[in-house]
This record gives sequence, C-alpha cells and structure tokens, in this order.
Amino acid sequence: MTDRLVPLISQQTIAETVKRLARDIDRDYGDRPPVVVGVLKGSFIFLADLIRAMQTPIKRVELIKLSSYGSGTVSSGTVSMQLDVPAEAIAGQDVILVEDIVDTGLSVAKAFQVLGSYSPQSLKLCTLLDKPDRRKVPVTIDYCGITIPDRFIVGYGIDFGEQYRQLPDIYTLERPIEA
Ligand code: IMP
Ligand code: MG
Repeated sequence: MTDRLVPLISQQTIAETVKRLARDIDRDYGDRPPVVVGVLKGSFIFLADLIRAMQTPIKRVELIKLSSYGSGTVSSGTVSMQLDVPAEAIAGQDVILVEDIVDTGLSVAKAFQVLGSYSPQSLKLCTLLDKPDRRKVPVTIDYCGITIPDRFIVGYGIDFGEQYRQLPDIYTLERPIEA
C-alpha cells in the first residue's frame, strides 16, 4: 500500500499567501517589534518564510511544541505542551503565535491559555491553513492564510507520521489504494 498524494496548494500560491500575511502583519505592527512564537514541528517552514517576508523587525523568535496527533490522522483530543517558552520572553510583549493548521482549535486554545498566563501585552494568531469544519473550540484567527476543506494534508512542513515535511507544495493524503 502506498500513500496517494493529490496536489492541493502549489508552492506559488503558498508564496503569495505568505507575502500577503507578512504585509498584513507589517501594516499592524510597524514600529512595535513582536515576539514571534512558532509551533513545532509543523510550522517551521512557514515560520522561516513568514519572518523573512516581514519588514517589521522581530524582537525575538520562540518555539513551542504541542502534541495532539499521535502517528495517525485523527486528533487525540488532548493537547500537551512539550516545550514551553520562558515567561520573561512573553511578559509585556506583543506576541504572534504562528501555526501551520487550525483544525479542532484545541492546540491553539492550549497555546493561548499558556502564553496568556505569561501576561503578554497582546496575543494574536497567524495560521497558514484553516480547517474550520472540525472546530471544537472557537478560535479567532487574526491572520489567516488559506481555508481548506476537511482533508488530511501534508507538505510544506506538515507531516503524516513524520513523512512528507520536505515537500514544497501541499497535498491531500488520500486513502491508500489496496493492491
Ligand atoms: P487542532 O488542535 O485539532 O487544531 O490541530 C492542530 C494541529 O494538528 C496542527 O497544528 C497540525 O500540526 C495537526 N494537523 C491538523 N490537521 C492536519 C492535517 O491535515 N495534516 C497534518 N497535520 C494536521
Ligand atoms: Mg501544528
């Protein structure tokens, strides 16, 4: 059995989306350097592209790690924080959380709860992809890249069982075809 990958979003569309998000952030932050917090592992490529497209100077980059998906394609429902940031990095700062996908919203809710407890001056969310169909908790997305249907996707940093992160385009992963 092999995974079947069907193209969904081209690298060109991703690049245009990243530019638009960076412009929107520049417009809003201008002279207020934000602290950018990326969510590992899925957002690492998006984060790298996004901050290089931004003109606004960044105060610092931090990384957090959340886990909700095991090795499967269905969220387990419980989110744990596996790597946290120092509270001093967040206190009094304008913080932008950078996610790859908002699906059920549970991961972002957890991250917002933890980061919010460190008393940032402001806390905003930037996500490359929004999958609103399976939302379990309401999430306000301040900077939203592309809204996608409820499909399992891979590529551009996003994995299935740690595979496919290196693909420059985004694909849907279709059910394996039995031989
Ligand atoms: P949520 O907690 O359900 O919103 O899930 C968010 C996280 O689950 C994302 O940051 C991704 O890491 C992962 N995820 C959600 N949908 C997909 C997908 O289609 N492919 C791969 N990972 C996904
Ligand atoms: Mg993620």
